[in-house]
Amino acid sequence: MATNGKGRIKEAAFRRLVFVILVTLLGAFLVVFLLRTSSVSDSVIKEGYGSSESLQMTFKYSDRTERLNLPIQNELSIRLEKRNQLPPRNLDLFPKLAKDSIVIALYVHNRPQYLKVVVDSLSRVEGISETLLIVSHDGYFEEINRIIEGIKFCQVKQIFAPYSPHLFESSFPGVSPTDCKNKDGADKKKCEGTPDQYGNHRSPKIVSLKHHWWWMMNTVWDGLKETHQHLGHILFIEEDHFIYPNAYRNLQLLAQLKPLKCPDCYAANLAPSDVKSRGERWESLIAERMGNVGYAFNRTVWKKIHRKAKEFCAFDDYNWDITMWATVYPSFGAPVYSLRGPRTSAVHFGKCGLHQGQGEKEACIDDSSLNIKVEDIDKVPNIKPDWGVHVYKKQAGYQAGFRGWGGWGDKRDCQLCLEFARMYHLGSI
Ligand SMILES: *[C@@H]1O[C@H](CO)[C@@H](O)[C@H](O)[C@H]1NC(C)=O
Repeated sequence: MATNGKGRIKEAAFRRLVFVILVTLLGAFLVVFLLRTSSVSDSVIKEGYGSSESLQMTFKYSDRTERLNLPIQNELSIRLEKRNQLPPRNLDLFPKLAKDSIVIALYVHNRPQYLKVVVDSLSRVEGISETLLIVSHDGYFEEINRIIEGIKFCQVKQIFAPYSPHLFESSFPGVSPTDCKNKDGADKKKCEGTPDQYGNHRSPKIVSLKHHWWWMMNTVWDGLKETHQHLGHILFIEEDHFIYPNAYRNLQLLAQLKPLKCPDCYAANLAPSDVKSRGERWESLIAERMGNVGYAFNRTVWKKIHRKAKEFCAFDDYNWDITMWATVYPSFGAPVYSLRGPRTSAVHFGKCGLHQGQGEKEACIDDSSLNIKVEDIDKVPNIKPDWGVHVYKKQAGYQAGFRGWGGWGDKRDCQLCLEFARMYHLGSI
């Protein structure tokens, strides 16, 4: 075919037109694709763990993962992280939270026989329907999940720690095949890992406790749209803490009285810091060191804690509470007290350690013959606003200078922990 100059120009113009149309179509297709994939759909999440969600999620999270140094996620981890964005359950029954409600965060692992007792105790708590219960899961376990899904007495928001070692079968933060074990010398065996101060390498099951606590703290304060405007208190409880019917109303009183009665108190506690004590039964409030059963503090205090992420993450002790006592609180520069009543409103009842979850060889089952006496006086608020405060000044316990029990020496754990503190603050860095 003969082509003159004019013909070539026409042909070029035509090609350009086709090109423009194609590009436009492709663009439109892309926009539709992105819009479709970015909406969180409940049905997709309930379908089980086997579809092609991962491609979409790499899209969504790639920006974040480039700037954060987080482990590569598997499908389960991605799916659970996505599920964390679902709105609370029971919004139809409890459409609104009460003004100044105290949010409750319950952190759980895998002791369903305990969790049932805790949930049952919560169902009897006066005022619970006014608030939001956040349940933070370390690992995914059907039975645990069923118990939480059965809760009908308040709004419930489930969140799953997406980097829980329990979700990773063969890579960090779980155990990876190249990891050093026990007291391996890293150079000799060419394995991966940094030993703790006592020469032991990491155990994922043990480090999971501190990871979960830190991830949960960061997430409930800074990572959820349900709570990131919440300035007031959040109460933290565990899957083996029995909660008394008066706990919520007492806590509201303590939160009110705290700034008036005890300016040195950073927190309020439902239980004495000595877990065996049920309280002095005096006609007085008590200020003592922060206990780890039913403690509550506000966002101001969280911000102070968050600023100590480096200290928290670097301290070679796998216990979050000992880490707080030995490094974080002492760094505040003033004594850190917690205010509580003279009768306990929560009891730690678990005999099985957290390290012996169900389904392990050494599965821990006790007969749960619970002997927690709830007297009439524990069913109603039993704190009097005109009481004075008794302060325990010199309490035994972990102090600044204690170097830790170990179990938290691997640089990868420290790094992951620091990333948890960074992940909701990228815009501000
Ligand atoms: C939070 O609690 C601390 C310690 O009790 C107190 O100093 C601070 O004023 C409280 N912040 C708010 C916003 O209530």
